[in-house]
Amino acid sequence: MADRILVLYGSYRSDRMGIRLADFIVAGLKARGEDVELIDAKAIGLPILDRMYKEHKPGSAPPALEALAAKIKAADAFVFVTGEYNWGMQPGLKNLTDHFLEEWFWRPAAIASYSAGRIAGARSNLLWHGTLSEMGMLVVSSTLTVGPISEALSTDGKATGEAGKFLEKSFVRFADDLAWWTEAAKMQRARKAPPY
Ligand SMILES: Cc1cc2nc3c(=O)[nH]c(=O)nc-3n(C[C@H](O)[C@H](O)[C@H](O)COP(=O)(O)O)c2cc1C
Repeated sequence: MADRILVLYGSYRSDRMGIRLADFIVAGLKARGEDVELIDAKAIGLPILDRMYKEHKPGSAPPALEALAAKIKAADAFVFVTGEYNWGMQPGLKNLTDHFLEEWFWRPAAIASYSAGRIAGARSNLLWHGTLSEMGMLVVSSTLTVGPISEALSTDGKATGEAGKFLEKSFVRFADDLAWWTEAAKMQRARKAPPY
């Protein structure tokens, strides 16, 4: 059975580039038979965090928050696509993520970073690793680091040139590792209900 995977991306910029990588990952996972959905923080448009999802009375959360909570809870795995602003995380994705906590627990997450230059978002990649662990996800060790993103991916999310070839090669192990941990977590959840 296909795994239900959410690919999360959070740039709000008009000229954003990371959507290329998000589209590449969605297409690549779909080609492997997975059940994939892009969660685009800009399209969802949550306000800056006021009340977390769990702080709303049951059934009274804003519809966008309620719908996203249901998707997160139903997912088997997550991919976080992250750019880097001034050595830090993109606030749009962090804001979306912080609205939830327990909803993320007991599933694996993989990180794919990118930037305009050769550093490929490595610093935000590192920051996300700790944050996702804190939020109860098992962060898989395989990662993608794409840079310069404009050389690796076309506007429609297709791999281009030498950088694109490297990305396609790296993606195989990235997706294999995520699939292995997704299966492991699924089996364990079925065998034993999570303690909380
Ligand atoms: C506010 C801002 C800060 C940035 N800081 C960094 C940085 O610290 N490191 C880096 O490699 N690129 C940096 N960049 C360049 C980004 O890697 C590049 O613009 C990338 O496309 C941003 O992702 P997005 O297009 O999906 O929003 C920065 C860009 C912006 C707009």
